[in-house]
Amino acid sequence: MVDIILGLQWGDEGKGKIADYLTPKYNVVARFQGGPNAGHSLDFEGKKFVLNTIPSGIFHKTTLNLIGNGVVIDPVRLREEIQRIVSECPDYKDRLLISQKAHLILPTHRILDAASEAAKGEGKIGSTLRGIGPTYKDKIGRSGIRVGDILGPDFLEKYRNAVNDHLGIIDFYGFTDFDLSKDELLFFDALEFLKTHQIINSEYFIHDCISQGKKILAEGAQGSMLDIEFGTYPYVTSSNTLAGGVCTGLGIAPKHVGKVFGIFKAYCTRVGSGPFPTELDNETGEYLRVKGHEYGATTGRKRRTGWIDLVALKYTCMLNGIDELIMMKSDILNGMEKIAAAIAYKINGVLSDQVPSNMCSAEIEPELVWFPGWGEDLNHTQGFEVMDERFRNYVLFIENYLGTKIRVISLGPERESTLVKG
Ligand code: IMP
Ligand code: MG
Repeated sequence: MVDIILGLQWGDEGKGKIADYLTPKYNVVARFQGGPNAGHSLDFEGKKFVLNTIPSGIFHKTTLNLIGNGVVIDPVRLREEIQRIVSECPDYKDRLLISQKAHLILPTHRILDAASEAAKGEGKIGSTLRGIGPTYKDKIGRSGIRVGDILGPDFLEKYRNAVNDHLGIIDFYGFTDFDLSKDELLFFDALEFLKTHQIINSEYFIHDCISQGKKILAEGAQGSMLDIEFGTYPYVTSSNTLAGGVCTGLGIAPKHVGKVFGIFKAYCTRVGSGPFPTELDNETGEYLRVKGHEYGATTGRKRRTGWIDLVALKYTCMLNGIDELIMMKSDILNGMEKIAAAIAYKINGVLSDQVPSNMCSAEIEPELVWFPGWGEDLNHTQGFEVMDERFRNYVLFIENYLGTKIRVISLGPERESTLVKG
């Protein structure tokens, strides 16, 4: 059976911590989409790691970790990431599996990302500039290069053809701020390193695991509101971040999907451009950013902050078929005088509880409900039932609005600050 954990907002919900927390229950943790635009933070035993491409189960000695076909891999970044974790898990090679069908991010994909964003000017997406969009573009355009290709005799020819195409486009953009020969040295070196890993036909591997009754956790990256189909298009990422993406991103049939866990923050953030109806472009927003350390784990950029948006959350619960919710960073709201949540959007004076398809052009005013704040100390060790009533009211309101149970509440970055609500 394959369970899924994914983010319900615009990413950075805390998937790394929860995937790591859930890992002991699973035999395999698998990434099914995205690439090194992701930054999954894990804190344990006083150490902090940020994972970009490697699944969050890597630190558990009995868990296998699969980078699935739906992922795009930058070998240079993957090598750097491995260098950061290798002292913690010297045996990682036995437990890291890479799909032959995962597409490769070439150095020119990164340059294309930068050239395309520069050409967009004011209208830029705010991409992480990791080459994600151009790599998926080539995949859909049927000219991508996959990890399995690096072992073939015609790899260099494929590579040169792709690079020539890319250089033509980069030239068309008039973009010159790059040094390809330096990037290529690193790239080819990293490819040799990549070849020393377990590069497999991963759909058969997953299928065998399912047949043997093993438990698999599919770990989403980015967030549902960044999904290429249903997110705030065009201010989205280039992959299917929703539960549906697990089937194509790993090669499993829908009937093998078990539980879908949806993870959200007790407030809301977004990094990069695009609509964000509940954004607080003020002192309160700055307070949340500082207290919540809301700076990109991958790019270090300032995240935009705002109140929780229940309209968008209900939409992503619907799209993903969420079974259980996990609420993160509730402690960041501790000690605030009052807290708001959006329960409807006002568009041209008309109230709606639906996310409009033209979210980018519509002027959306959020309809807020206010809650009295709770104290500084949530003291969760005795369980949810005896916690501050004002906090419990906030949690119960969200559950009620979404029609879905919140099973886990996280009150800090460490593995221990996690309350199972039941
Ligand atoms: P790209 O996926 O790097 O092209 O970025 C597209 C948009 O998605 C930008 O607004 C990014 O900031 C955002 N984005 C991409 N990956 C993440 C992530 O892991 N967390 C949060 N936002 C992300
Ligand atoms: Mg992140």
